[in-house]
Amino acid sequence: MLTVDDLAVLRSTIDAWRRDGLRVAFVPTMGNLHAGHHSLVELARARADRVVVSVFVNPTQFGPNEDFGRYPRTPEADATGLSAAGADLMWLPTVETMYPYGPQATVEVRVPHVTEGLEGAHRPGHFDGVATVVARLFNQVRPDLAVFGRKDYQQLAVIRYLVRDLAFPIEIVAADTLREADGLAMSSRNQYLSEQERPRAAEIHRCLQWMRQAVQAGSTREAVEAEASQRLQTAGFVVDYAAIRRPDLGLPDTGPGDAARVALIAARLGKTRLIDNLEFAA
Ligand code: PAF
Repeated sequence: MLTVDDLAVLRSTIDAWRRDGLRVAFVPTMGNLHAGHHSLVELARARADRVVVSVFVNPTQFGPNEDFGRYPRTPEADATGLSAAGADLMWLPTVETMYPYGPQATVEVRVPHVTEGLEGAHRPGHFDGVATVVARLFNQVRPDLAVFGRKDYQQLAVIRYLVRDLAFPIEIVAADTLREADGLAMSSRNQYLSEQERPRAAEIHRCLQWMRQAVQAGSTREAVEAEASQRLQTAGFVVDYAAIRRPDLGLPDTGPGDAARVALIAARLGKTRLIDNLEFAA
């Protein structure tokens, strides 16, 4: 696997692949990679001839009181894992490469509508940072397809909107969430959990399953959201939201033929903010 930190080298390597008629897949990450990321790489590998993975902790998507400073940076371990998972190139841009005028003076990409509510309401500016960096990464790598995890459900909707609206010729592939044995969704932030918190964190997945069952049993959206928040608070979480939405993140209507739903939770356990979701038919 190649490790590249120079934009000209990245471009010439990918251009050569393209001249050989190879299909290029891209997996953007912030590093500190775990089995969940490796599964995205394996999915990319199955769909393309070459796989590029970026590792960049993007400053513009963190709020002032968020964990940018302490976000784990493990480039050596990332390289070992990526190589084993079948990546061909690890792209390690510097902040200067990504933001030549500095992160405060960047041309910003702002996605409307799908960024409202949920994460957008609780992390102001977060999706502007995500859309801004992903647009840059797409211009740098110019992949045929890009893989994003379903765990970041709203982020996936933001990326789909971005790709369609800015006419990026890139297929977006959604990858399923990988879970620990007790159901906790894999995340780099899980390592912030203390020994006491770790078993309690699985309550988020149990609560999502309860929300699904309650909707399917006929409870109203409002009742399910209120009870889910209560359950999480009782288990020691500070809840940002426990929500039932349509897959496009609109509020569910009750009309026939519109039965797809997603339950989404964001909640903090101690200093760790966790998000997860579950898609189902109502
Ligand atoms: O999902 C992530 O890890 C990040 O939001 C992404 C897409 C790599 C952009 O920094």
